[in-house]
Amino acid sequence: MSRLGTETAFEVLNKARVLEKSGKKIIHLEIGEPDFDTPANVVEAGIDALRKGWTHYGPSAGQPELRQAIADDVSRSRGVKVTSDEVVVVPGGKPIIFFTLLALADVGDEIIYPNPGFPIYESMIDYVGAQAVPIRLREEKDFSFDVDELASLITERTRLIILNSPQNPTGGVLSKQDIEDIAAAIGDRNIMVLSDEIYSRLVFEGEHHSIISVPGMQERTILLDGFSKTYAMTGWRMGYGVMRPDLATHLTRLMTNSNSCTASFTQVAGIEAIRGDQSSVDHMRAEFQRRRDAFVGGLNRIRGFSCRLPKGAFYVFPNTTKTGWTSKKLADALLEQAGVACLSGASFGDFGEGYLRFSVANSLENLNRALEQIDDWTKRNL
Ligand SMILES: Cc1ncc(COP(=O)(O)O)c(C=O)c1O
Repeated sequence: MSRLGTETAFEVLNKARVLEKSGKKIIHLEIGEPDFDTPANVVEAGIDALRKGWTHYGPSAGQPELRQAIADDVSRSRGVKVTSDEVVVVPGGKPIIFFTLLALADVGDEIIYPNPGFPIYESMIDYVGAQAVPIRLREEKDFSFDVDELASLITERTRLIILNSPQNPTGGVLSKQDIEDIAAAIGDRNIMVLSDEIYSRLVFEGEHHSIISVPGMQERTILLDGFSKTYAMTGWRMGYGVMRPDLATHLTRLMTNSNSCTASFTQVAGIEAIRGDQSSVDHMRAEFQRRRDAFVGGLNRIRGFSCRLPKGAFYVFPNTTKTGWTSKKLADALLEQAGVACLSGASFGDFGEGYLRFSVANSLENLNRALEQIDDWTKRNL
């Protein structure tokens, strides 16, 4: 258990709540979830499903109709042929990370993962006893990595490469060229790729590209996507993995052993989310983009902060090295003294030191207030 890490966002949220109880006002820019409500058509479908008795166990791999809807959706969006037996529905995107590592990684296997990156990757790699090999995301490359560097990290013991685009915490997006270069670096080696595409519908410039679309990579890719971010359904707990049928059988067995199945009425709502009106997804993306533009512009006017325009997801990741403060100390001070909750870049791995992560999943009014409060604080303290 000592090898298992955590997600700091939940700890900072608790700390912020304690401060709020003591009367302090806090603007929450720490947690990574859309501030929008789940679209009404999806909520209605869930309620209707409860009334119709979708309250029992279902198949461990997911309801056949939902698996088919996901297979159709992924086939269309990634330009590959996916069948329903390649889809495993799980409670959120996270279990796909957990199950993939349990299923594929042995003690001593090397797993390459993005750093700074979603902290659960490193936590779970350590937990299963594999060797975590970070690939550094570079600000000067718009938070992509150097493919030559990736190639130099691949060894005989590399079992899995984890990709995440759009990326948490940097908002970086892998281009088509990046993806093709990564596939070329892997070549015909027996290495699997876990491609975490949970923010696939939140790309602001250009299109989303997946390594599953590169010829020859589908059999070696486990694609992770879900409903949490796209449809503002974080609390419903529903995500999925797309992978070869033999691997899908293993992950389904892990589901049987751990959760039995994903909640049945939730899955009925999921069918409506995928097949129903998508205008709320477009609305949320446009709104995140507006906020991103305003917040990044504001941060760049604050002493000691410099921030690139992220191309996807709903995070901004300013460089704060010119403040002279470490990320953790700065994040703590902003929470306690400026009333703005954000995360230290270092909580996303060693290469996140020197950065902060702000989520723009809050109203424009609150984001502007946060900018004022940070600006005041820096004027008084830097
Ligand atoms: C990169 C990434 N992958 C996976 C997840 C997990 O999503 P879910 O809430 O669906 O488990 C998150 C959530 O923050 C994330 O940022």
